[in-house]
Amino acid sequence: MKDLKDMVIGIANDHAGTELKFYLMEQLKSVFKEIKNFGTDTNDSCDYPDFAHPLGEAIEKGECEMGIAICGTANGISITLNKHQGVRAGLSWRPEIARLARAHNNANIVSLPARFLSNEEALDIVKAFFSTDFEGGRHERRVEKIAVK
Ligand code: RB5
Repeated sequence: MKDLKDMVIGIANDHAGTELKFYLMEQLKSVFKEIKNFGTDTNDSCDYPDFAHPLGEAIEKGECEMGIAICGTANGISITLNKHQGVRAGLSWRPEIARLARAHNNANIVSLPARFLSNEEALDIVKAFFSTDFEGGRHERRVEKIAVK
């Protein structure tokens, strides 16, 4: 397990996730080396791809190792992020699903449905995600088959 203190992560959200984003950034500020905030930072209605793509690009360039993505259902932001070849965003609404997204899918972004979680539930999901390693083995073979050639 890599020390999270050495890890730069990114976070992106639409208007449905702004409050949760700031809660998580406050709770996690001493956990990671840096949390790069890709916005949005207001509650004004916006389009999740405008914030998801910069996070996806940062992951692909290696500027962020992993990330957190938030929208109302987590569907729009996950669908967008998963267009990036270097991204595996796992929609997670319980800690165990987040743990399995890491262990089995080597997910590098945890996607949270802000409209269906309390702040505390979301924090538990994020902690489960970042405290789990990829298991490799048979899952490595499956993950290697995901990309469209
Ligand atoms: C915004 O109203 C909502 O559509 C968005 O946050 C997300 O749930 C889309 O998938």
